[in-house]
Amino acid sequence: MRILVVGSGGREHAILHALRLENPDAALYAAPGNPGTAPLAANLPIAADDIDRIADAADAYAIDLVVIGPEAPLAIGLADRLRAEGRRVVGPNAAAAQVEASKAFSKRLMQKAGIRTAASATFTDLDLALAYVDSHPEPLVVKASGLAAGKGAVVCATRGEARDTVRAMLGAGIFGDAGRTVVIEAFLEGEEISVLALTDGHDVTLLPAAQDHKRLGAGDTGPNTGGMGAYAPVALATHALLERTRRDVLRPMLAALRENGTPFSGILYAGLMVDRDGVPSVVEFNCRLGDPETEVVLPLVESGLSDCFLAIAEGRAPTPLRLRDGAAVTTVLAAAGYPDAPKKGAAITLPTSLPEGVTIYHAGTVRDADGTLRVSGGRVLAVTAVAPTFAEAQRRSRETAAAVQFDGKQYRDDIGWREAARLRA
Ligand code: AMP
Ligand code: GLY
Repeated sequence: MRILVVGSGGREHAILHALRLENPDAALYAAPGNPGTAPLAANLPIAADDIDRIADAADAYAIDLVVIGPEAPLAIGLADRLRAEGRRVVGPNAAAAQVEASKAFSKRLMQKAGIRTAASATFTDLDLALAYVDSHPEPLVVKASGLAAGKGAVVCATRGEARDTVRAMLGAGIFGDAGRTVVIEAFLEGEEISVLALTDGHDVTLLPAAQDHKRLGAGDTGPNTGGMGAYAPVALATHALLERTRRDVLRPMLAALRENGTPFSGILYAGLMVDRDGVPSVVEFNCRLGDPETEVVLPLVESGLSDCFLAIAEGRAPTPLRLRDGAAVTTVLAAAGYPDAPKKGAAITLPTSLPEGVTIYHAGTVRDADGTLRVSGGRVLAVTAVAPTFAEAQRRSRETAAAVQFDGKQYRDDIGWREAARLRA
């Protein structure tokens, strides 16, 4: 088996780690990978969105299966190109990747399929958008429709703030083309969970539900980020809630995508807001595995991931996964200045030995010519602990995160606080 994983983050390191454990003898490749994937796979110096060179590499290395990690290459048609060349791919074609790349598209399909989601309207005209804001109750949410690296959704406490946000997106064009269409929607109360589904476009195999921590600061304060940590499973996500999500969210969305002529194959990520009565509404769909969710859900898969990837890549129904008991918690270590202006270059010192069940996934790291590991991006490392209990996983993740050293390191020492409070109650 020869497998290529496209991407360079903690998610891709976690995918390769899981694939290596299941396939000790496989030839694994990463494009471009990172210093953490280097011991697991051959890192090819090819950017994740360089479609031509990835297609050439898949040919040159006779790749049997390509797993595409990030949304950007999916949105520009990497999967289409590879499929057209007869390759097995995990990841949707560009038309189906619009579930993430166009919130306007995603909302339209959700409305058509009757999937619970915040009431919304879509605008390209500034004056019409401002008039809509003026008639909307507070708080409200303004979103750039296109891909904006996790920064495109702005929760606005007041209409004034929403007006400013609409002007910035539609007027000043702060997100470029991604913000030339905006979605304005009602604010949903509740607790967020991420449900990741492996799918052939019809059936789904669910990964354990995870909870991300989007805000930079402890207690969910400060600016939004790509995600500062996660845990899985989530007690709130009961079997009944997950089955309801399969029935009322995932299957109807997949059906709507098929009827739209844009069938979806790959990983459909439902970002859900669960209200006080345990009813889920969709906040967003993504067309890929989450980051940092992947770093907690894949370590809980004992076996079956490669088989399931292969099944959906061949258009067969997703096969079941065998899950491990216990819990996983990951703590993200971010660079100084993250999320606005991450500072690169600081030397990183990793602990010489890790507690049982702890893995450090690399994200924004580089190894320079003399072998020093350095910060090269906003999210630098993800420290995952798997343990028999949530509390133990939380402690080991937090303590190992504290032991990693680099200048300006930022991390949250309260990842999983909601779960901890739930378990105390
Ligand atoms: P999105 O880019 O749509 O995933 O939004 C990013 C984050 O903004 C979400 O994870 C939520 O925390 C928050 N958010 C987005 N839409 C809503 C909403 N309608 N109500 C409450 N929070 C939201
Ligand atoms: N952690 C959120 C995301 O991957 O979109």
